[in-house]
Amino acid sequence: MTTSDHCALRGKAHPVVAQVVFNRSLPGDHGLLRLRVGKLARQVLPGHFVQLICDPGLTLPRPFSLMDADPAQGTVDIFYRVVGVGTGIMAQWQGGESVRVLMPLGRPFAWPEARVNPLLIAGGAGLAPVHFLAKRLVERGYAPVLAWGIETEAPLMTIDARMDGFPLDVAFVESPEALAALDAVGVSSRLASMVATPGRFHGYVTDLAEQYLSHSPEIVRSRTVLFACGPTPMLQAVHRLAERFGVSGQVSLEERMACGFGVCAACVAPVRTAEGWTYRKICTEGPVFPISDISWENY
Ligand SMILES: Cc1cc2nc3c(=O)[nH]c(=O)nc-3n(C[C@H](O)[C@H](O)[C@H](O)COP(=O)(O)OP(=O)(O)OC[C@H]3O[C@@H](n4cnc5c(N)ncnc54)[C@H](O)[C@@H]3O)c2cc1C
Ligand code: FES
Repeated sequence: MTTSDHCALRGKAHPVVAQVVFNRSLPGDHGLLRLRVGKLARQVLPGHFVQLICDPGLTLPRPFSLMDADPAQGTVDIFYRVVGVGTGIMAQWQGGESVRVLMPLGRPFAWPEARVNPLLIAGGAGLAPVHFLAKRLVERGYAPVLAWGIETEAPLMTIDARMDGFPLDVAFVESPEALAALDAVGVSSRLASMVATPGRFHGYVTDLAEQYLSHSPEIVRSRTVLFACGPTPMLQAVHRLAERFGVSGQVSLEERMACGFGVCAACVAPVRTAEGWTYRKICTEGPVFPISDISWENY
């Protein structure tokens, strides 16, 4: 394969040298990285991901969803958890440094029909793409609500929830924690944790979403569309929720990747076909798929 073949496969993705605006260390081994990428910040949509060269010595780049983009400032945000070598190096980056990025990659979330009720479900660092989606949905006049499962001290600033997007029965606790940045733009959020934590729903984030759906009036429930990103067991539970409540949705999958643009087939997921199922590449045909497209029993 030639370089031009690779470029064709990358489609609209560009290799860029980005500048680190800031790289904040956050509780629970998380980090928030802001990169200046110029005009590319105008092209990115929720669900797009980037490939970061964490270090020239590492053979493979590392894939990360975008958590936000500011077209006016020419910046994009990445919310990450330090789990290994590459993210360990990322955590050391300082403002002003230059880093190499390939972006934007993948297929973003498809915009839902008008008048639907978006319920966003995230696990851990899977918050990134749904956080971005929540903000863009609000800009387009939707009223999304977001449930986030996190086991550690909340890495992002929280406040006492003020918004009324969740049914009153799903307040669960006095002074429920909400994500401050989302609350500020009108997205109602709640946190869930398997570790009993004041202000949070005690249980799986999908149990919180189940409570939301169970307590919502039929008019809200019937118009609900799910959007989710997180570990595979969480996404499987989201699939069961969609089936149980008869709602549709989209999931952003996170498989191990190598090239990130369709060449190596390192990143496949089982997808339904008319004949049964087959593998599809997450990096080019995803990472976002309709929930009903995934062959969950083969995942
Ligand atoms: C489309 C996509 C979006 C992602 N978005 C985010 C995000 O917003 N925030 C975040 O914290 N993490 C995200 N991840 C996971 C992130 O890519 C891994 O945590 C990261 O690559 C780990 O690299 P490492 O060198 O620190 O870990 P190592 O374990 O040392 O990495 C070894 C190899 O495994 C790959 N790898 C390890 N874990 C994963 C994983 N969970 N998914 C894919 N590849 C993995 C690495 O890319 C590398 O090639 C995303 C993954 C994908 C596929
Ligand atoms: S990561 Fe190479 S084909 Fe998807």
